[in-house]
Amino acid sequence: MKNLKIGIFDSGLGGLTVLPFFQELLPKEQVVYFGDTARTPYGSKSNRTIINFALEITQFLEKEGVKAVLIACNTVSAIAIDSLREAFPSIPFFGIVEPAIEAVAREAEKGERIKIIGTRATISSKLYEEKLRLLRPDLELTATACPTFVPLIEEGLREGPLIKAAIDYHLPATELANCDSLLLACTHYPLLTSAIAELYPNLKLYNPAAYLIPGLVDYLQQNALLSNKKEAADIFYASDLSNNFRAMIAELAPAESQVLCPDNFSNVEELDN
Ligand code: DGL
Repeated sequence: MKNLKIGIFDSGLGGLTVLPFFQELLPKEQVVYFGDTARTPYGSKSNRTIINFALEITQFLEKEGVKAVLIACNTVSAIAIDSLREAFPSIPFFGIVEPAIEAVAREAEKGERIKIIGTRATISSKLYEEKLRLLRPDLELTATACPTFVPLIEEGLREGPLIKAAIDYHLPATELANCDSLLLACTHYPLLTSAIAELYPNLKLYNPAAYLIPGLVDYLQQNALLSNKKEAADIFYASDLSNNFRAMIAELAPAESQVLCPDNFSNVEELDN
């Protein structure tokens, strides 16, 4: 059991932004990552589709042999975590949303004006807003969906005129003048940190990926599941092996990692029945 992998998945390459935090705290664990690059973005799809995709990916990861699954996608965590826990009761799932809410509730200043930004699905779920309001009624919360960010990031763009225009379109200066901080409630968005900081240098940025791993570390410790030694290289699957995915792996993953496109990825209809 100790030698099983840790599954990590996202709608695409955004979930790779959790890797530096993972490697810092759990360097001896073997990762199997799945990025659904063929079907990204998830954030503008229906809840039913997001749940079906997440079930399908988990079924794939289960076959790979995992002792826990990190849902490195705010959209899936917000929409599908209950369905995943119900469908796979033996897999411990760690969603990215809950620890981020707890961390922001701990760290925010009194009366801080926080804008939550994410995909349409995450923002429509109101999960961040509602839970943060319960924990910290003093915070001034607003929320904005930024649906053009993910396709641009999947395209490999992180700065330049298109990114600037997209930031300006979704987050105009007039609106951000009344904010102290941005909560980056999509794992793709930390890749825009420099572009956002260039336009809005005084805004504090919260990155949920920074808070995801400690809960998994506690779970592995408490259940004597920590691996003593990394037995094999990490594996990174993408449902469509784009050059940008490969480039991100080269940037963020250990050099010996395997990068693959699965040929036995099951189909949604099967799970629908
Ligand atoms: N990276 C995902 C998230 O954290 C979703 C992006 C998308 O596919 O729309 O929400």
